[in-house]
Amino acid sequence: MSIKVSFDYIQPEMKVNFDDFVDKVKDIDKMINDRSGLGSYYLGWLDYANKISKDEIDQIINKANEFRKNYDTLVLCGIGGSYLGAKAAVDALRGFKNKDKMEIIYFGNILDPNYIYEVYEYLKTRNYCICVVSKSGSTTETSVCFRLIRDLLEKKVGKEKAAKAIVSITDKTKGSLRKLSDLNKYSTFDLPDNIGGRFSVITPVGLFPLACCGIDIKELLNGIKAGMKEYSSNNIYENQAYQYALERIYLYNKGYKVEMLATYENRLNYFKEWWKQLYDESEGKDGKAVLTTSATFTTDLHSLGQFIQEGNKMFYETILYIEEPTHDMVVPHDNEDYDGLNYLEGKKISWINEKAYLGTLMAHYQIANNPNITITVSKLDTFELGRLFFFFMKACAMSGYLLGVNPFNQPGVEVYKKNMFKLLGKPGY
Ligand code: PA5
Repeated sequence: MSIKVSFDYIQPEMKVNFDDFVDKVKDIDKMINDRSGLGSYYLGWLDYANKISKDEIDQIINKANEFRKNYDTLVLCGIGGSYLGAKAAVDALRGFKNKDKMEIIYFGNILDPNYIYEVYEYLKTRNYCICVVSKSGSTTETSVCFRLIRDLLEKKVGKEKAAKAIVSITDKTKGSLRKLSDLNKYSTFDLPDNIGGRFSVITPVGLFPLACCGIDIKELLNGIKAGMKEYSSNNIYENQAYQYALERIYLYNKGYKVEMLATYENRLNYFKEWWKQLYDESEGKDGKAVLTTSATFTTDLHSLGQFIQEGNKMFYETILYIEEPTHDMVVPHDNEDYDGLNYLEGKKISWINEKAYLGTLMAHYQIANNPNITITVSKLDTFELGRLFFFFMKACAMSGYLLGVNPFNQPGVEVYKKNMFKLLGKPGY
């Protein structure tokens, strides 16, 4: 078992008693599997990894290889669920300075004119291709940015060559992006109707950009399948995804309204952004929900750390800790030892990081009295990342139903869009 959930650092009175929830968890699990709960149409992600055809996977890999051969830069144009999962995975697997030949730029996820200008100017110097992702096909941020770089590309290489450099991922039949793609004969992959954006990283929405970045998507799917198996039990004593879900809602009901997900690795920073969207968009309804926030330790221990140790007690912590790093280094010897570090000579950085993790757990649990859920992952590779995505998705379904909301809609997201459309003068608003 390479993902381990532990409640060892939760105060006894804050620890959920599984015995009290055996039946409730079984009932919800049945509702999930029978697809009889609120919003259950959107449970398509539950078994998608088993349903995606070999043909579709091959098409994704072939098109991605064509992009890798012909271009040096991929612009991934999408917002929210239409890019966060891919960025989370690319960052988690490629790290700080990726050495892969394909550069990836995330675009269409903000209306910041400076960023848009800067990317546009930079793209003038790049041999780029585009992957545009939008389920609705009409999201303003994505559509406006796509129009800009499509236009630039068409002016640079002509309409026909530009069309070959564009892949769109959208609804099979509906929406303006579908129409535009069909008219221009872009290559397309379908975003299944029964999978919401925040659950779509396991579909072409995540798979295609990852394949473009040289990531083995078959291995990611294998990890997802392992997660499907591992988190399939309706027994709360066996299903760790459900245990995590149950404890978070238990703490919420005890007055902890905020969950802080902390990691000890920079490469997981966007994984936390993906996780925030998954939980906030799924649960933030009917005046309820745990508010998610995140931190990167030890960096944030030098800023947020003061608040975590001695500030307002509205939150609990969830620590996502990777036991074995992909790369490591050793502290070298220094003859003078003016910095007084020779006591660490020969020690691995990962060993020091681990001591920081354990020391922080003690400080936050024992001294600050904060509840800490720990989730340890043995090693973060493509397979384990797939499993981890599925772990949090399955937990989210249980958690949302325990909270009593529909975890699969997002009516609140539409409100700002409608107001903005009105102000923009969009026809029909
Ligand atoms: O999870 C969601 O549903 C949202 O984050 C959407 O993915 C986001 O709003 C983008 O929407 P679309 O894919 O329709 O452009």
